[in-house]
Amino acid sequence: MGFMTIDRIRVEFTDEPNVLSVIRKADIDIPTLCYHSELSIYGACRLCTVENERGKTFASCSEPPRDGMVIYTMKYRKMILELLLAAHCRDCTTCIKSGECHLQELAHRMGVTHVGYENTKTQYPIDMSSPAIVRDPNKCILCGDCVRMCDNVQSVNAIDFAYRGTEALVTPAFNKNIAETDCVNCGQCRAVCPTGAIRRSLGGSSGKGGSRRLFWYGAGRERDGEDCKCAPSYGI
Ligand code: SF4
Ligand code: SF4
Ligand code: FES
Repeated sequence: MGFMTIDRIRVEFTDEPNVLSVIRKADIDIPTLCYHSELSIYGACRLCTVENERGKTFASCSEPPRDGMVIYTMKYRKMILELLLAAHCRDCTTCIKSGECHLQELAHRMGVTHVGYENTKTQYPIDMSSPAIVRDPNKCILCGDCVRMCDNVQSVNAIDFAYRGTEALVTPAFNKNIAETDCVNCGQCRAVCPTGAIRRSLGGSSGKGGSRRLFWYGAGRERDGEDCKCAPSYGI
């Protein structure tokens, strides 16, 4: 147990695993894109960045709370969101996730109406090889949620990070199509993806894709933002 000072408010903590949990316990709204309590902590999106009394910034999701900590939560968040949007393709109005995209919802909530940075990222082909999911790397913000879901929870490890810096990419090994991997089409990566970078394949009306489509609709999951929740062995 200890006490932290968050935005000049004294807050007690007990067994909270990270500073982010203490901030939320104090009813301070901190949006996150890569923090899921059921997945390992990756600290990729930086949206949860806070500042200490010496001006040092850090991701609150990956910092344990310490007695006497003093932090401020208000700065930088809008700029970080703009930087995430800058490297993201701009076809939001025609994206199937429009209206259900967590990134878009945050942009609206934080009043980001214009992105003043050019998108200089390499453009990649869209992977439509799977009957369950469509991968569009041009909408990926590299949060790693899909990688951790596929590895930590589903134990399949069909996708991972490749390359570094501005070339960083989430992809199957050797840039293969997802259909050429051990992917079991469980759709769990899509369930956690906060953008349209992994979305549900609507497939065709027959064949494997059609079966998948019938499954999604049969399960009453008409909206892309909803979750299928099947185990890896559940090869539909
Ligand atoms: S559909 Fe399932 S197995 Fe395939 S990449 Fe996504 S989480 Fe991994
Ligand atoms: S595909 Fe989606 S979940 Fe995976 S890293 Fe990119 S934005 Fe995150
Ligand atoms: S939620 Fe902390 S870095 Fe993404």
